Amino acid sequence: MQNVASQQDDFYGDRMTAQVARWAEGIAAVLSPDESASALQLERLGGRDGRAVYKVVCGTRVGVLKLFDHSRPALRDAYLRERDMLVQLKGWSRTARHLAHCDAGGFVLTQYLRGTPVSQYAERHGALSVARAVGVWLGGLDARMITRPAFASWSDYLASVRTGLPQSAVDGADAALGSLPVRGMALARNDGNLSNFVMNGSGHCLGFDFERARVKPRGWDFVLTALELTAQSPGPVDPVLDRLADGFASVRDQNTLVQDLRDVVRFLFTEISAQSHKMEG
Ligand SMILES: Nc1ncnc2c1ncn2[C@@H]1O[C@H](COP(=O)(O)OP(=O)(O)O)[C@@H](O)[C@H]1O
Ligand SMILES: [Mg+2]
Repeated sequence: MQNVASQQDDFYGDRMTAQVARWAEGIAAVLSPDESASALQLERLGGRDGRAVYKVVCGTRVGVLKLFDHSRPALRDAYLRERDMLVQLKGWSRTARHLAHCDAGGFVLTQYLRGTPVSQYAERHGALSVARAVGVWLGGLDARMITRPAFASWSDYLASVRTGLPQSAVDGADAALGSLPVRGMALARNDGNLSNFVMNGSGHCLGFDFERARVKPRGWDFVLTALELTAQSPGPVDPVLDRLADGFASVRDQNTLVQDLRDVVRFLFTEISAQSHKMEG
C-alpha cells in the first residue's frame, strides 16, 4: 500500500484498495510511462455493491480505475463484460479509451473523460439540448457492433426475455409492438442511465460503463436512453425522439431502423405515462 493514497474510501474501501495496491507500480507505469512520478492518488467517483470507480492521478496524468470485487461471480462477469467491450471499442474516440486491464486484479484502467454529466446537463438545459449528441453516440456504438440476424418482432422479444422494462407497459404495448421487426441482434451497453454520458467542451457526447453489456435487439440502447431522456423532460416526447433519431441516423443511413425504434419508444412511453396517470388518479 505504500504508494496508494486513498480518499473517500468509506465503502469497501480497505479491501478494494488492497486489491489494487499490488498493481500500483504497473498502473503508474501505464499512466505515466516517461515520468518519474509513481505515487497514485485515488479519488472515489462512484460504484457500489462490490464495484468501485476511482479517478487515479499519477503525477500530471489522470485515468479512471474501475474495480470489481472478483470474489463474487456476478461481479467477475461484470468485469469481463466491461473489459471486452472496452477492448472492442478501443479505436473509438467517443468512449473512455482502454489503457489497461488486469484479470487477476479485477480492474480496468481507462482514460478520464472531462465533461458535464448528461443527467446534469439535461436537468439544467432540458432533454432537447442533449438529444442529438446522445443520438450520435448511440448510432456510433451501433455502427461498431457486429449484427446477427433476428427473426422476431419486438413483441416476441419482449415477451420472451425479462428486460427490466415495466411489465405492464410491455403488456399494454404488445399488439402495437407485434408489427415492428427486430432488425438484428448486436452487443448493446444495456444501460440507459444518463450518468453514463458526459458532454465535452466541443458539444460531443461521450459514453462509458459497459458492465451490463448483453446481446440485444439492435437499437436497444436507443430505446433505454430515449425512455430515460423523455422521463426527464416534461414536454412532448416527439421533439426529443426526433433529435435522438436524427443523431443516430447521421452516423450511417439507418432510416428504417430508426423509424421502428421511434415507434417502439412511443408505444412504450404511451403505456408508461397512461399507467402512471392511472396510479395518480
Ligand atoms: N472514464 C470516465 N471519465 C470520467 N468520469 C467517469 C469515467 N468513468 C466513470 N466515471 C464517473 O464515475 C461514475 C461511476 O462509473 P460507472 O462506470 O458509471 O459505474 P457504475 O457501475 O457505478 O454506474 C460515473 O457516473 C461517472 O461520474
Ligand atoms: Mg454508471
